[in-house]
Amino acid sequence: MSNTQLIAGINTAGSAKLFEAACRTIPGGVNSTARATWSGWTPYPLFVKDGKGSHLTDVDGNEYIDYLLGLGPMIFGHRPPRVTQAVVDFIQQRGTVFALPTADEARLAEKIIAAVPSVDQVRLCNTGTEAVLYATRLARAFTKRSKIIRFEGMYHGFSDGVYWSKHPAIDKAGPDKHPIAVAQGPGMPKGVEENLIILPWNDADVLADTIKREGDNIAAVLTEPVMCNTGCILPKPGYLETMRELTSKHGIVLLFDEVITGFRLGLAGAQGRLGIKPDLSVFAKGIGGGFPVAAMGGRADIMALVATGKVSVAGTYTANGIAVAAANAALDELNTPGLYQKLDAVSDELRAGLGKVLRDAGLPAYVVGVGPLMQVWFAKDEIHNYRDAERHADQHMFRTWWEGMLSKGVLFHPGAYENLFVSTAHTHADVAATLAAAKQVAAELARSV
Ligand SMILES: Cc1ncc(COP(=O)(O)O)c(C=O)c1O
Repeated sequence: MSNTQLIAGINTAGSAKLFEAACRTIPGGVNSTARATWSGWTPYPLFVKDGKGSHLTDVDGNEYIDYLLGLGPMIFGHRPPRVTQAVVDFIQQRGTVFALPTADEARLAEKIIAAVPSVDQVRLCNTGTEAVLYATRLARAFTKRSKIIRFEGMYHGFSDGVYWSKHPAIDKAGPDKHPIAVAQGPGMPKGVEENLIILPWNDADVLADTIKREGDNIAAVLTEPVMCNTGCILPKPGYLETMRELTSKHGIVLLFDEVITGFRLGLAGAQGRLGIKPDLSVFAKGIGGGFPVAAMGGRADIMALVATGKVSVAGTYTANGIAVAAANAALDELNTPGLYQKLDAVSDELRAGLGKVLRDAGLPAYVVGVGPLMQVWFAKDEIHNYRDAERHADQHMFRTWWEGMLSKGVLFHPGAYENLFVSTAHTHADVAATLAAAKQVAAELARSV
């Protein structure tokens, strides 16, 4: 078998063949950047046969314990019976798109509002990108200000207004304390970045100085409450509290992007777990059990602009039958007593276990995360923001780790800036198998450094 038909020593000839064919008709052979070769899936991504619960099988018949989980939405694992059945029932018995409301939408809104105390009212969207786009527009309309603070290393979807400074080359991105906006690529309209202020995350002084200087022009501070798009980085103690205080004092909308953390770190998301009440929030991956649905919600006085039609929030497919049926069923399931405790217990076992395995092997590595969300940093120093990660994280070692784990049947994204996700379908046995694999891979890695 040629090298091009192997990834991490595994036969992936079927994926290789499908990728070659896909590249003839699909630019890059995939339908999203995170699946592309330039995101780490070299020489090609694995092509999926199917997933079931915590496991995924590729077209070559290789089976993996899946911590990629669709990059987050599969909170119940693959093919969750209750959510899947609810969608099948809805589309078979009622339809999909009506351009008229259904009673199911208000039921869903009630569940979201009951789960997240900062949300008085909520509008559905299809994706996280849309939800962020609407929420930033709403914040600008509400405050009658134009600028948005956005943090280097975060990702808030791919719309022109925010697809800046995700992972810029730091030698081209200005000083550490005052980064300049770097477009994700060509094609962004000129001048959009004038409405963005890019800051390093986890630096309360820089945030305070910026708000002091420019507060009257700032509509919103847009942040993930836990940084999930440069690996996993936790907020420093007091940082989000300071952010809350400063934004309240200056009439700035605090906008939490809980696309990843929402309904994953608990029913009330990261904000519930960390005890911070934002003004607006966006949710996506956690609420649909794997079906495309997102939501934007928050303070009634801000959402009132949507109620009057002053700020138009539209969409042919918003609140379509699939989305609403899936989210209603997902939220019912997430409300199962003890569900998050169990999910946390399995996740904590994995996080603690991985940390121990890496430590015992003497590797310069540690695990950062909260609940069913985590990443391994191969680094000697602490990482509190994007530039720390660029400077301290050993991407090469991460790649070797990824290959080793894949070769032993454990799947996660090959990029060090992504995360491992745990679902309610993952078992203690999955964790034990993962840790056994990790022990071997860590020993091999230790020998090689
Ligand atoms: C924090 C965050 N915000 C927004 C988005 C965009 O969501 P979507 O891919 O549903 O458009 C993502 C996607 O990964 C995300 O991680």
